[in-house]
Amino acid sequence: MILIVDFGSQYIQFIARRIRESKVYCEVYPFHKITEQLIEEFSPRGIILSGGPASVNDENAPKIPDWIFNLRVPILGICYGFQYMAHFFGGIVKKSDNREYGKAHLINIEDCILLNGACDFGCNQIWMSHGDVMTLCPKDFKIAGWSNRHPAVIINEKRKLYALQFHPEVAHTQDGVKILNNFIYKICGCLSDWTMRSFQDDAIAKIQNQVGDGSVISAISGGVDSSVSSTLIHKAIGNQITCVFVDNGLTRLGEVEQVEKSLRSLGMKLIIKDASDLFLKRLKGVVDPEKKRKVIGVTFIEVFKTVADGIGGAKFLGQGTLYPDVIESVTVFGGGTAPIKSHHNVGGLPAHMDMELVEPLRMLFKDEVRILGKELGIPDDILGRWPFPGPGLAIRIFSQEVTPYKLELCRKADAIFTQEVRKAGLYNKIWQGFAGIPPGRTVGVMGDERTYDYTFALRAVISTDGMTADAFEFPQGFINSVVTKIINEVPGLNRGYYDYTSKPPGTIEWE
Ligand code: XMP
Repeated sequence: MILIVDFGSQYIQFIARRIRESKVYCEVYPFHKITEQLIEEFSPRGIILSGGPASVNDENAPKIPDWIFNLRVPILGICYGFQYMAHFFGGIVKKSDNREYGKAHLINIEDCILLNGACDFGCNQIWMSHGDVMTLCPKDFKIAGWSNRHPAVIINEKRKLYALQFHPEVAHTQDGVKILNNFIYKICGCLSDWTMRSFQDDAIAKIQNQVGDGSVISAISGGVDSSVSSTLIHKAIGNQITCVFVDNGLTRLGEVEQVEKSLRSLGMKLIIKDASDLFLKRLKGVVDPEKKRKVIGVTFIEVFKTVADGIGGAKFLGQGTLYPDVIESVTVFGGGTAPIKSHHNVGGLPAHMDMELVEPLRMLFKDEVRILGKELGIPDDILGRWPFPGPGLAIRIFSQEVTPYKLELCRKADAIFTQEVRKAGLYNKIWQGFAGIPPGRTVGVMGDERTYDYTFALRAVISTDGMTADAFEFPQGFINSVVTKIINEVPGLNRGYYDYTSKPPGTIEWE
C-alpha cells in the first residue's frame, strides 16, 4: 500500500488514480490526520507528499510529524512536498519572481532509479505549478534534474527520499506515470497485484464482519453506484439486505419498471414505494431551483424512513458512496469551495436515521466500480447507464413549477432523444444526455394551424467525472431530425433547441 498525504492539492485524486491504475492500492489522508496509529495500521510501503497551495515559509504552513522521515519508508515529495522536504532538511525555499506555471522541460538529468527509463531522450515535457523555488539544495541531497530555470528533482538515495518540483500525476508530464511507477515498484517494492477480485474478497469479508447477523436497508436509484454497492452487500450477507426504491414521480419513461426488472434479476429483496403524489403535491408552486432540491431531499428522507420503520428497524444503511466524495482535498487556509447546487442524494439520511453506514465502495473510483460491477455479473445496461440526478426530471423542467403535464412532455421528448442516440450507436460516446422543458411557450404553425406550445431543449455532454464537460458534437443532421421527430410525435411541443454550453461556464443540468 502507498499512503498519500494531502497538503491541499488540486491534483490529489490524480495521484491516487495513477497509483491505482498501476494496480497498487493507495489511500489519501489529509496532513493533519497523520498519526502513529494510522501509520501502524496502514504499514505503507511508501509515502507520497502531495502539492498544495501553501508556502513552507508561512507561519501556519501545513506540517506532518517529523518522525515520518525516520520511518525508513521511501518518500516521494511532489511540488509542496518537494519544498517541504527541501526546507525540512535544511535547504532554502524562497518566493520567486521566476515562477513556473504550465509546461516546462526536464533537463540535465542524473542517472537514478526514480527517473530510470523515464527521460531517456532528454528534454521531456513536465508540468509545473509553483510560486516558491528551492534556492539551496539540502545537504545529503543531490539535484538529479532541472527545469529550464530551477532544480526540479532532488534525491537522497541512501535514505530513499525523493522529490519532484513538477507534477508527475498530470497527463501533461510526458513520463509522469513511468516516474511514479519507478517509485512504487522499484523503490518501494510494491507488486502490481491489486485487482478487483482481491478487492471484492476483502470487501465481502469486511461487510460480513461489520454486519454479522444484522439487517441492512439500502436506497436504490437504479444508477451504477447503488446497484453495485447493494449487489456486493447482497453477495456478502444474502437476504439480510432489503433494497428500497422510492418512486418520486420524477423518473424517466419506463424507469421504475426497468429498475424493478434489473434488481429482481440480480435476486435481491426489493420494496418499491410509490410516493409520486406526495412529491408532486410538495412541489406545487415551487419554482426556485434550490427550494425544489430541498423539498425533494426532505420528502425523500421522510418516505425512506417510513419504509425503513415499516420493515422493522434495520441497524445498517447501505450506501454507494464513492472515493471522490470521501477525499475532500483539505482547504489549508480554511473556507470551502463555493456551493453551486445542493446536490440531493441519500447523503442526508444517516443524520436523520440512527443507523450505521455500510459503504463498501468508499475507496473506489467510478471506473473501478464499473469493473467490480462486471465481476459481480451486473448487466452492462445498468453499468453503462448515463448518470441521472437525485431530483430527477424536476430540475429539467427548469425555472418553473413542475406539473404532471410538463413531466409527461419531458419524459416523452427524453425517451425519443435517448432512443435515437442509441440507434445512431452514440450512447457510449456520450457521458450524459437528456431533454428538458424550458419555461414558456412559443408560437408555431403545424398543418396550417397556429400552435402555442411548450418547447424542449436537448443536452448531451462528454466528460470524465462531471466536474467539467463539453457539449457533444452530433453528426450533421442528427439534431435536426431528432427535433422534427419529437415535434411530430409529442403533441404539446412545437420547438426544440440544442444546448452548446460547456461546463464551466454552464453546469450539466439547467438548475
Ligand atoms: P451539474 O449540473 O452540477 O451536474 O453540472 C453534475 C452531475 O451531477 C448530476 N447531478 C446530481 N446528481 N443529485 C445527484 O445525485 C443531485 O442533486 C444532482 N444534481 C446534478 C448531474 O446529472 C451531472 O451528472
